[in-house]
Amino acid sequence: MKSILLFLIGLLSISSNSQKKESYMNTKIVIAHRGASGYLPEHTLESKAMAHAMNPHFIEQDLVLSKDDVPIVIHDVYLDDVTDVATKFPNRNRKDNRFYVIDFTFDELKTLQVTERFNPETGVQVYPKRFPKGKGNFKLHSLQEELELIQGLNAATNKNIGIYPEIKAPDFHKKEGKNLTEIVLKILSYFGYKTKKDNCILQCFDAIELERIRVELKSELFLVQLTEFLEDVKNLEHIATFADGIGPWYTQIIDKKVNGKWQFTSLVSDAHKLGLKVHPYTFRADSFDGFSSFEEMMKTLLIDANVDGAFTDFPDLVVHFLKE
Ligand code: G3P
Ligand code: CA
Repeated sequence: MKSILLFLIGLLSISSNSQKKESYMNTKIVIAHRGASGYLPEHTLESKAMAHAMNPHFIEQDLVLSKDDVPIVIHDVYLDDVTDVATKFPNRNRKDNRFYVIDFTFDELKTLQVTERFNPETGVQVYPKRFPKGKGNFKLHSLQEELELIQGLNAATNKNIGIYPEIKAPDFHKKEGKNLTEIVLKILSYFGYKTKKDNCILQCFDAIELERIRVELKSELFLVQLTEFLEDVKNLEHIATFADGIGPWYTQIIDKKVNGKWQFTSLVSDAHKLGLKVHPYTFRADSFDGFSSFEEMMKTLLIDANVDGAFTDFPDLVVHFLKE
């Protein structure tokens, strides 16, 4: 009982400590995409700790439920492209030959070895120059474990690095009889993330779910609508009624180069007119299609297109660029 009390007092002091510090909502922000995923396997606690040391403004968490309703920090509903599930549990795939997080308990998930992302059909590593596949000893973890890590590191280093959780595939979870969003909102609130002042940005690709989070669930968090295609941003005015920002694929911002100069779509200025922040994804130093270098990508989007932040696998490089 005493230890629970001490734990709760500790949490309260961490939360109130973070509220005393500056909010990053009005600066150009760096979001560590899946942690420092350019250097260590994505969404591992090691990758999050490394990202924290690089001083981004936010660290991202993609969230999927386990069979026993624990939110797991993992990019997809699948396990087979970042773990050894196919060899550890060879008969637990579904008809489509994929292995789903939701079919495994938290204890089972903890037995898996996490590795650098690979193609499950060929076994080939997606980013060949990153951390070598199959090396190291990395594990899956829950949202709670990651929040304890980030808040603990904030307390120990006197920083106030925020979190940027994503509700993954809400429709899929609903079909499986689960409510990911409500479970996540409860945990966020327990850890002190309740309003726009709390350095937490909640993101989702599903516009119906994001609107539900604002209107029905009455969340006061900073909300970002993720978008991928032109279709997704057709109704920007409606998005602005429930969201505070958009997270577009960066190709939605650039148009074409004319006489060596990039032309832009109207997305950023349209969003800004509606008071929406713009945080495009994903800035990768080893994959920057359309640009001749990573530097050109950073300058074009962060300076010339005047976006408000960047999801990046290389937080150190974008932090350095913005400082310069
Ligand atoms: O959430 C921003 C960015 O991460 C969206 O793409 O597929 O990496 O989650 P994804
Ligand atoms: Ca994401």
